Amino acid sequence: MTKLKVGLIGAGGIATSVHIPAYEAVADKVEIAAIADVAYDRAKAVAEQSGIPAVFDNHETMLAETDLDAISVCVPNKFHKSAVIAALEAGCHVLCEKPPAMNQTEAKEMEEAAKAAGKLLMYGFHFRFQSETQAAKRFIDAGEFGEIYSGRVQAIRRRGIPGWGVFTNKELQGGGPLIDIGVHMLDTALYLMGYPEPAVVLGKTHQQIGTKKGVGLLGEWNYQNFTIEDMAVGMITFKNGASLVLESAFAANVEQRETMQVSLMGNKGGADIFPLKMYQEKHDTLVDITPAYLPKVPAHQAEIHAFVAECMSGDISDHYAKQGTSIQKIIDALYESADTGKAVYL
Ligand SMILES: NC(=O)c1ccc[n+]([C@@H]2O[C@H](COP(=O)([O-])OP(=O)(O)OC[C@H]3O[C@@H](n4cnc5c(N)ncnc54)[C@H](O)[C@@H]3O)[C@@H](O)[C@H]2O)c1
Repeated sequence: MTKLKVGLIGAGGIATSVHIPAYEAVADKVEIAAIADVAYDRAKAVAEQSGIPAVFDNHETMLAETDLDAISVCVPNKFHKSAVIAALEAGCHVLCEKPPAMNQTEAKEMEEAAKAAGKLLMYGFHFRFQSETQAAKRFIDAGEFGEIYSGRVQAIRRRGIPGWGVFTNKELQGGGPLIDIGVHMLDTALYLMGYPEPAVVLGKTHQQIGTKKGVGLLGEWNYQNFTIEDMAVGMITFKNGASLVLESAFAANVEQRETMQVSLMGNKGGADIFPLKMYQEKHDTLVDITPAYLPKVPAHQAEIHAFVAECMSGDISDHYAKQGTSIQKIIDALYESADTGKAVYL
């Protein structure tokens, strides 16, 4: 393979702000060969701006008529599954934006399609690629935290209900802040904990702010058609004995404009990840460890470059696809528990 020939499904926000620039940054390895969007004019404008030679108004024709090696799926959540499976069946590796899908059943089908095709299916969990996460991972792998038995994840915005896109539409998104931003911090925690198997899940969702007109720090949201939760809280226990608590909100009456945090507690050490600060007891002294220097890594770009490298290596792994199903199982259980008022035993 000389250059990896990449196509994009979806020409909206994440495709233009993240995927295209990241591929352009490795133009010696990647050629962006085609783009498809049901909004053809949008795809055409993006193609003209970025010099993409082939434009389509649907991905089926793009996949049939263009010889592609890899696909970025950058469409709303509801359309992830069909785009991912079509791309895999056309023989392409796939980088699908997060969350993996609308639910676990879809994520499992996608995992199986990747296995059948023998292709890489990776998801857009870029917080794994932050230098803080990678540094914490090195400490964890070296045993500095001991057994990680508890964690806390927070993805909380004060008034950050998106005023664009379909983020407040449950039918197209599968849920609200939990599946949209909570999923990033949940993935980071699970990644650092070694993706343990969930055992029991208790969840509760709230809809207190989003259905009323209010101050929008991410634009004016559509409060009259607000079908998602504005806050989700949960607790997850794992089969290895660990536990995790979660809070995720698009809007909440809190001080900080935005908190994206993962905290982990092990029996030899613990940490807050963003920014990284680690806590241990050493030589009868409680100590804090703060990195004096961590490289500033553009995490989205690092994720896409890792995807390119793995596609080109020919040595592809199935762990992203499996973890995608696993995280979706937890999200399903949190929503199910919120709906029924009962804990879900997995
Ligand atoms: N990794 C991150 O931090 C991050 C950030 C933002 C969005 N996302 C994810 O990216 C995805 C897209 O979000 P966005 O912000 O770019 O949305 P967007 O609304 O800006 O763009 C989505 C595009 O998909 C097109 N589209 C819809 N259905 C299609 C289909 N069947 N085939 C082809 N095109 C189709 C729409 O016309 C639109 O142009 C979502 O899954 C979202 O969760 C991830």
